[in-house]
Amino acid sequence: MGNVKAAITSVGGYVPDFVLSNGDLEKMVETTDEWITTRTGIKERRILKGERKGTSDLAAPAVLELCKKRGIDPSEIELLICATTTPDYVFPATANIICEKVGAKNAFGFDLQAACSGFMFALVTGSKYIESGQYKKVVVVGGDKMSSIVNYQDRTTCVLFGDGSGAVLLEPNTEGFGILDSILRSDGSGLEYLHQKAGGSVNPPSHKTIDRQEHFVFQEGQQVFKFAVTKMADVSAEIVERNGLKGEDIAWLVPHQANKRIIDATAKRMGIGREKVMLNIERYGNTTNGTIPLCLWEWEKKLRKGDNLIIAAFGGGFTWGSIWLKWAI
Ligand code: UT7
Repeated sequence: MGNVKAAITSVGGYVPDFVLSNGDLEKMVETTDEWITTRTGIKERRILKGERKGTSDLAAPAVLELCKKRGIDPSEIELLICATTTPDYVFPATANIICEKVGAKNAFGFDLQAACSGFMFALVTGSKYIESGQYKKVVVVGGDKMSSIVNYQDRTTCVLFGDGSGAVLLEPNTEGFGILDSILRSDGSGLEYLHQKAGGSVNPPSHKTIDRQEHFVFQEGQQVFKFAVTKMADVSAEIVERNGLKGEDIAWLVPHQANKRIIDATAKRMGIGREKVMLNIERYGNTTNGTIPLCLWEWEKKLRKGDNLIIAAFGGGFTWGSIWLKWAI
């Protein structure tokens, strides 16, 4: 089974209807459309409204869409991996809840947590199940209801994030298409710069943690920016070089959407023009695990069989990496 690769054969996506614009945020915190646009590239983001709605409500429509497009019944899915940082519950896994919602009755599922690199880590994990030869239909879904952990009184973070989800179907391919190489990295010393202070086993929820507003995203933006801009560019250049690829061989860069300036630096380092970069941060902001599959979802019609795609991400942890894949459909 040595030459079996995992190819993406269908893509689904979902963003909620409610739009939170920079203009809306100007009324909520001390900020301006100009600051947000020039520092991040974001103009608006989507927010999931409604009582008792969670990440699975974003992910389930994306999974159903990919099944419909591929003409398969959800009961044919064998494994569903959900990459999320905002699970519906601490336990059980959101993957189980998604499987229940879509009718994936024959699948096993689990969640994978690697902050903004989660979808990329999950995609590589899913590909290994396919390469083993034992699994033929693996769904990898990435999504986050970031609005559930964002403090809308903190201007340094609330302008950055949005809610959304995307999903891909992985199937075996023996014709040289699919995920061909990956580099994944993590560095636990990044904890201090980007984390949620309470709610885990180190600092369980209490009145004190609520009073101290510790259940929200905490980020030292500049520190994270410094690491992100170097690591994402380094790892993208590394995967291109070690596979003998040049700028002109790359059809698309599919970057995590945290900051347009980080994306621009990565593209420049790889020697590829802006026209080859998937960029939708202006409409959705940073949806954490949703950014990369949402890009694939929006650009799917422009992708051609055999296109070389480089996926790249950087996130909390720190975590980062890149994937080289050849588009198969
Ligand atoms: O996806 C996971 C990984 N995360 C990332 O990759 C994010 C990486 N970091 C970033 O993208 C950027 O650091 C931010 C967009 C978060 C911040 O941009 P920055 O250029 O690094 O700004 P800064 O944090 O250095 O802040 C500059 C100034 C500060 O004011 P002073 O101290 O210079 O007076 C901030 O208080 O901008 C101020 N500021 C704001 N002003 C208006 C911070 N947030 C805002 C705001 N509106 N929303």
